[in-house]
Amino acid sequence: MYILTKEGERYLEDGLPEVRLIKEILSGKTSMKELQRLPYFTIGFMWAKKNGWITVSDGEIKVEAKARSAKPELEAALAELSKGNEVGLKLIDTMLSRKLIEERREIPALNEKEILQLTPEIIKSGAWEKVPFKKYDVSLRTPDIYYGRKHILRMALDKVSRILIEMGFKEMEGPIADAEFFVYDCLFTPQDHPARTQWDQFSLAKPKMIKALPDGVVAKVKAAHENGGDTGSKGWGYKWDREVARRMVLRGHTTSVTVHYLMEHRKPPNRFFSIDKVFRNDSIDRTHLLEFYQIEGWVMDDGLTVRDLMGTFGEFYRKLGINDVRFKPTFNPYTEPSFEIYGKHPKLGRWLEIGNSGMFREEMLKPFGIEARVMAWGLALERTLMLLYNYDDIRNLHGTLCDLDSLREAPTIWEY
Ligand code: PHE
Repeated sequence: MYILTKEGERYLEDGLPEVRLIKEILSGKTSMKELQRLPYFTIGFMWAKKNGWITVSDGEIKVEAKARSAKPELEAALAELSKGNEVGLKLIDTMLSRKLIEERREIPALNEKEILQLTPEIIKSGAWEKVPFKKYDVSLRTPDIYYGRKHILRMALDKVSRILIEMGFKEMEGPIADAEFFVYDCLFTPQDHPARTQWDQFSLAKPKMIKALPDGVVAKVKAAHENGGDTGSKGWGYKWDREVARRMVLRGHTTSVTVHYLMEHRKPPNRFFSIDKVFRNDSIDRTHLLEFYQIEGWVMDDGLTVRDLMGTFGEFYRKLGINDVRFKPTFNPYTEPSFEIYGKHPKLGRWLEIGNSGMFREEMLKPFGIEARVMAWGLALERTLMLLYNYDDIRNLHGTLCDLDSLREAPTIWEY
């Protein structure tokens, strides 16, 4: 049985704050400043926003069409409950969590002949054979219990790494903070490339610079940038600066980890992957966060072609249950040809970029002493998850704005 709390009683009388707020706005008050004077503004605003009833821009509040037609079902539920009528469980939960109602347990009259608590004496004496036990009331509601569980992103990560291991890949590990040399220079990315600015990457204050760079490779990378060295290329034609290459940054892609591994595994065949955090100075929106997980991978073999690359992706995504993928030619300083990979979002209906890939250029491989062909890619784990589970806002998945309720209720469907 549920009864209204003081707050619940008050709302029953005056209306819910969010409903009152909507009425005020619809009657012409739209300036945030003015509305803020209403005594119920804070609570009303919070719930109206949460319900998706309003949007705010330039200090003006706009009521969404959804709210104009919405029946304030919570108000109706309060009224029903106050009359002693039944109300749906979802509404009960909402009202309980907003403390508009509380549970009133009916305490049954104690019948002395009924045993409430089983004790050793009752068993030993044999009394249990004769007396009736109090029956369980299985219709009583129990509190929801949220036990510890794996985050859906972690489940996806485990699943993806399992698939890649099945496909013969070994896992790589590398530093989160690294010198620009490994993040960009080794990837034949010129030092004036826009990705290498404060607008795109996070620099480290301490240490600002890496102590040592691998000298043998440095000379070759420098030559590749300046005039192509012995890579058969003309290079970028500028003066390469070692100090720029020494700057420490948070890696903007895990291709820096690939670089470390390529230097150590120069002879084919090789297959490596990693699923790890990368950091970018992006603007946050429904498909972007400042940090995300990248699924990085590369295959080294003689005679690899773009067909192998596409075939590998086809297999990988099929194993994940994504059949609709498309490739779009793009440019990366370190791959040629290069392809963006798109998957179709079932709810948003649009093609979402889920990764980037290509065949590493000679300008990049030759300085490491690699003669074989290498195909490589970087995919976003979160975007892949959005496609698979219909998430339409990456911010609900992780970060400070994540939606705890939906994370708690996320299905456990990944086998791993
Ligand atoms: N580093 C690229 C990115 O972050 C992904 C990529 C990796 C592309 C390897 C090609 C080859 O988008």
